Amino acid sequence: LSVMKMSIDLIKQHPADAKISDSIITKRLDLIEKSIDRISHQVDDVLDYVRNSPLKLSTISLRTIILGSIDKVNVPHDVTITVSDSDAILSCDSIKLDAVFINLIVNAIQAIPQGGTIEIQIRSNNDEVIIDFIDSGVGIPQEFMDKIFEPLFTTKQKGTGLGLASCKNIIEQHNGKISVKNNPTTFTITLPKIPELPKSISQ
Ligand SMILES: Nc1ncnc2c1ncn2[C@@H]1O[C@H](COP(=O)(O)OP(=O)(O)O)[C@@H](O)[C@H]1O
Ligand SMILES: [Mg+2]
Repeated sequence: LSVMKMSIDLIKQHPADAKISDSIITKRLDLIEKSIDRISHQVDDVLDYVRNSPLKLSTISLRTIILGSIDKVNVPHDVTITVSDSDAILSCDSIKLDAVFINLIVNAIQAIPQGGTIEIQIRSNNDEVIIDFIDSGVGIPQEFMDKIFEPLFTTKQKGTGLGLASCKNIIEQHNGKISVKNNPTTFTITLPKIPELPKSISQ
């Protein structure tokens, strides 16, 4: 896919060399490029879901991971994301948690067609961290509440339905929990500050 994408970029940069300066062809190339982006995205979702690699733990600030996740998302200008000032230090796989947070933020953005807010709140006690993702979007129909964490459940025409299933896998790998409520739509993640690692079967 990336080779295809690179070739298209090259053709677009040198339309004269490629003898395809016609604007219709350029439009088609744009379409191909968009499809490739979409397929790449879907393949990434599938790989994220299937990959069940062991956690690579490090001790890190949760707020730093969340701010990094927000940076990687294309946030529409009519969507405002706020992160509470509070922070917590925990032992976790920051790359996997980053993927969880990106999934939740993208879902929230997709649920906010007319502009609105995403509030991310961090709370903690002695041994747990609790993170709420609250969005002002359209909400989740009651009959779907039990289904949204199931693999392949999607209400989107171009969705994979693997985002929340991956989130659940990763949070459970950390011995945490993820749950959802409506009014306002709130995804709540609870993580132990130090995940008790499952005993290795090979030892
Ligand atoms: N913040 C949200 N607001 C409303 N609905 C949501 C939200 N997050 C997830 N959903 C619902 O849960 C479904 C599953 O989400 P997900 O597993 O990420 O798959 P996908 O985003 O590919 O549809 C979505 O299709 C949507 O119906
Ligand atoms: Mg999603």
